[in-house]
Amino acid sequence: MSTAFQPMSPDEKDRFRSAYLAHLRARDGVPDLAAQRFDIRERFFARIDASPLCWKGTPPVDQGIFDRNYSRSSPERGLDEATLWALATAKTNRAERFGVEREFEAHGVPANAAEDPHVYIQVEEFYHTRILEDALAAVGVRMSVSKPGFTTQMLVRTMVHLPDDLSDVMVLCGEIVGVAIFSLLLGKARTLFAAQPEALARVETLFAQILVDEVGHVHFVRSRLTAFQLGWAKRLLPLVAHGALEDLPELVLLFGRKEILRHAVAADVDAAAAPYPDRFVVNAA
Ligand SMILES: [Fe+2]
Ligand SMILES: [Fe+2]
Repeated sequence: MSTAFQPMSPDEKDRFRSAYLAHLRARDGVPDLAAQRFDIRERFFARIDASPLCWKGTPPVDQGIFDRNYSRSSPERGLDEATLWALATAKTNRAERFGVEREFEAHGVPANAAEDPHVYIQVEEFYHTRILEDALAAVGVRMSVSKPGFTTQMLVRTMVHLPDDLSDVMVLCGEIVGVAIFSLLLGKARTLFAAQPEALARVETLFAQILVDEVGHVHFVRSRLTAFQLGWAKRLLPLVAHGALEDLPELVLLFGRKEILRHAVAADVDAAAAPYPDRFVVNAA
């Protein structure tokens, strides 16, 4: 059963915050929001950079077709699954990254950054773009960072300036939808790229990082909400999921709208991180 909407008592919230902060410190190290980096996390990427790995032979995705479609709001007709996967993967963290950038512009670095889980989450979102770039590189695709579609940009800008107790309800929904999308993409990668186990293993390692982070984000936002707000988040989740899909037509073509919504609304975030020993376990809080 989903824990994503379970309210926490004030005591549980206190315990959660200190346990989550300890988890973030051990996982990421010291956050540097202005430089968008963590000291410990950099070591993970140094290992990835030290062993560049690429698809052997003809990549499953044609770079020219990818580039042409990446700049379009909806893809050309008739693209194969691997190309749709690459496009959806490249586009899927754009809204979160855009939100974090606008937030940073609007609020800067808080005084007690190293004590604030929210700062860690912001830096993790920057890493997610890098992770997705590396995942695409493993299947032979180069991508550059781009902005989400116009409507998503407007929505994100509005959310950044809403009072916290309103925006957090929407943010919780966004994080839950993110977990659903990343776990669907990972599942699809397993069937699409099984022919080259090394490349697939790299995609698995990178997606594991994102899934562990994102499930932590869900529980952190949940810990900031009251039972009343969580009730609203549950009701608004299908709407937010629909909105997110407007900007990800490749994902809809790959899985079908119904399947994505079913997965998102189930909100089974703990199952998504269950295989990973470095995940944050809420009950241990
Ligand atoms: Fe993310
Ligand atoms: Fe997130």
